[in-house]
Amino acid sequence: MRVTVIGGGYVGLVTGACFSHLGNEVLIVEKVPEKVEKLRRGESPIYEPGLDELLKEGIEGGSLRFTTDIEEGVNFSDVVFICVGTPSLPDGSADLSQVEEVARLTAKSMKSYKLLVEKSTVPVNTHQLVKKTVQRYLGRDIPFDVASNPEFLREGSAVYDFLNPDRIVVGVEGDKAREIMEELYRPLTERGFPLLVTDPATAELIKHASNSFLAMKISFINMVADLCERTGADIELVAEGMGYDKRIGRAFLNAGIGYGGSCFPKDVKAFIKIAEDVGLDFGLLREVEKINSERIGRFIEKVLNALWTLKDKKIAVWGLAFKPNTDDIREAPSLKLIPELLKKGARIRAYDPKAMENFSRVFLPGDDLMYVQDKYEAVKGAEALLILTEWEEFAKADMEKVRELMELPIVVDGRNVFKPNHMRALGFEYYSIGRS
Ligand code: UDX
Repeated sequence: MRVTVIGGGYVGLVTGACFSHLGNEVLIVEKVPEKVEKLRRGESPIYEPGLDELLKEGIEGGSLRFTTDIEEGVNFSDVVFICVGTPSLPDGSADLSQVEEVARLTAKSMKSYKLLVEKSTVPVNTHQLVKKTVQRYLGRDIPFDVASNPEFLREGSAVYDFLNPDRIVVGVEGDKAREIMEELYRPLTERGFPLLVTDPATAELIKHASNSFLAMKISFINMVADLCERTGADIELVAEGMGYDKRIGRAFLNAGIGYGGSCFPKDVKAFIKIAEDVGLDFGLLREVEKINSERIGRFIEKVLNALWTLKDKKIAVWGLAFKPNTDDIREAPSLKLIPELLKKGARIRAYDPKAMENFSRVFLPGDDLMYVQDKYEAVKGAEALLILTEWEEFAKADMEKVRELMELPIVVDGRNVFKPNHMRALGFEYYSIGRS
């Protein structure tokens, strides 16, 4: 099939590259010309495992192309995926201006039937607004449908998630739209991955409900971790014990310094607002947000307990990305933690395998904040090591070497990368989350 993807960001690139990998001809429309130039050379603007290979495969095989021309894109195929950003507005609601723009431009350029598919996360019933907008600007009698097909891609494993989904959710009205979507996903459904067909409003809601639920799991376990610290219980074992219950599940019960990223913070906010707009108070989710925002202060408290004061202390930081296997720092806890540490006078040496470039654009390097290219370099002479992201290379680090390089062997681990007994046996003073 021919497929058009509008938006060459994170979701659009992964969607386009994966559809091309599944045997379709894909045209990605991206309005920033420099980005298109780079993509045509096979250079991905983001770090995502497996994506470079798929881009290369698609470009070399001729099944993946890029353009800045939306009219060309819209008329390239019958099915147009909307993969543009829906950032938060100051009141927490989603800014849908880019979605509206795509609907408008599609209406103006389309010459035959189109199925417009929302992939971007949008509030429930956005499909009606998209439909109305297309109708308004179309001004001619051309049939079209609007569908919702939310993505459930985790950064760092987005390509894997696309090709091995827990479920595919498709919200459609009418047989034609349903058939197109079923055909498009056939390579995956044939391999046994479940496809749930719903109406568009339900599909839109499934996305926000899923992400808010996962964020709730994280805030829940983070509160339980604080309880563990005050009672001498062990959060890892509590999570394991809870996780064996199939109704709960062990996933997303890792306590730490809170959730970040481009989805959870935004989606929880949006879901609260969506409920509010229809007269419902989703107070549970406001509490989820509150607990998450308090994680930063709780971690700083731990650092202060360990070091007493931070003025002129040499602090090594491992991890800046909001989670491992990504260079993304959007809403990363590090963005709030680092300035707090600097404000208290700390002198920081930071290392992250992929996210330093992005981070150093927000916080320029200086005397108090240096970026180093190696995790061992970061800990040289440090009076404490703070772990903010659980990259695998940290878990595998030679911690004896780390202890020797540090001036004081103090580790404050915000992601429970190590086992407390092991770290103590190595001679570290070790603080982590929800364990003593
Ligand atoms: C999420 C959803 O998982 C995905 O389905 C959705 O469509 C996009 O948003 P992503 O933001 O890439 O994906 O990352 P995810 O792995 O879900 O982690 C989100 C945040 O929660 C990270 O900051 C992570 O560190 C944190 N987290 C996750 C925890 O603190 N504890 C956990 O147990 C799991």
